[in-house]
Formats: sequence, structure tokens, C-alpha cells
Amino acid sequence: MDSDNGVWYAESLYPPDEQLQRVLNSIRESGMPEISVSPGYGRLLTLLVQMTGARSVLEIGALGGYSGICLARGLTGEGRLLSLELREDYAGLARENLQQAGFADRAEVRVGDALKSLDSLLEAGERFDFFFIDADKVHAPEYLERALLLAKPGTIIVGDNAFYHGKAYNPENNGPGAIGIRRFNERMASDPRLESTLLPAYDGMTIARVK
Ligand SMILES: C[S@@+](CC[C@H](N)C(=O)[O-])C[C@H]1O[C@@H](n2cnc3c(N)ncnc32)[C@H](O)[C@@H]1O
Repeated sequence: MDSDNGVWYAESLYPPDEQLQRVLNSIRESGMPEISVSPGYGRLLTLLVQMTGARSVLEIGALGGYSGICLARGLTGEGRLLSLELREDYAGLARENLQQAGFADRAEVRVGDALKSLDSLLEAGERFDFFFIDADKVHAPEYLERALLLAKPGTIIVGDNAFYHGKAYNPENNGPGAIGIRRFNERMASDPRLESTLLPAYDGMTIARVK
């Protein structure tokens, strides 16, 4: 069985998720890029937040709120999600979708360049126990570096699109996004502050735990 068939089989096991399907429809109707996290990794995000008991979750790259809902679904008690998004219009749809999913009281979408938002969080002395890094790939290594500064022992760091649609491992593709995601993956794999793995289904996902 090749990996595409494996993904097809895995997805066939799960009933349609009407809430997330509505989010995907809203993204399509708004003419936004259809690049939300894959359904299987969305379910994984929920499980990881749930299993780690993360109370402060930081997402970098909100788009229409699909992964935000997956992350928020895993929160318990006083757990909160902060999602960083460059575009006001995308942030607006993400807020709307998070609200419709019942997470308005525990999710905030903050507009602005993620690097600047991360620096402000650092200045404010904030710390997080879960990161989902899923914005532009050019700055992925810088997002990781900031995440490490905002982390504490046991913090989980997840990165989407480890393969970047094949560009990550195509030696002929040396665009800034391909270089960024390669450096990110390499750092996730070998930074002495992290223990990690790379899941090779869908477009690849890296998961690390801060030592
Ligand atoms: C792959 S999409 C995020 C998908 C979303 N995490 C999901 O799975 O539902 C990447 C998002 O990052 C945002 N983005 C790109 N550059 C950014 C930056 N410098 N700061 C903050 N967000 C950025 C884009 O506008 C886009 O919404």
C-alpha cells in the first residue's frame, strides 16, 4: 500500500466533521487559499493538546481557523489559544469560525507580522506550553527560535508542511520557502534542546518536545 492509499484508507475511517467542513467551505467561498492542515493532522493536534494538558497554546498562522478549532478542541479547564495571523481579513474569518465552534471565550486571533508579535510576547515575559508553527516557510527557522525562547521544559512544538509539497527534499528547489523549511526541519531534528520526530504522511509534520 503506498502512502496515498494509506491516507485515503485512514480518512475513510472517520465520519465527516461538519464543523470543520463548514470552515473549509467558508475559506473556499472567501477565495482564500485552501491550505488548512490535513484532517488527520488536525485530529492529531486535538489529541496532542489533550494528552499534554497544554493550558497556553500559541499558533503561528491562523488562515480561516481550521487548525485553531482543532487545537481549541483539545483544551481543558482554563486552557487558552492565541493565534497569530498577518492578514486582517483572514483573522476575521478565523475569529468568526472559532466563535461558531464555541471557542470565542478561550481563543484570540492577533493580527500582525508573527515575528513582531512573538517579540512582543517575549518582552511581556509570556511562556507557552504548546506551539503550532504553520505560517510562511521562509521565516520558519526564526519562528522556531522565538518558540524556544517562549517555551519551558516539556513544551511541545509542532510544525506543519515538513515536506513543503516535495520542495523540502528536491535539491533543485532552492527557493526561500524550501530553504526555510529545510533549516526548520534540520533544527527540529538536531537541536540539542529538543527531542523530536517527523511524521511522513500527508505533507509531513514535525513534533518536538523541549527537554
Ligand atoms: C498554511 S496557512 C495556515 C493554516 C492554518 N494553520 C490551518 O491549518 O488552518 C498560513 C497562514 O500564515 C499566515 N502568514 C503568512 N505570513 C505570516 C506572517 N509573517 N505573520 C503571521 N502570519 C503569516 C498566512 O496569512 C496564512 O493565513
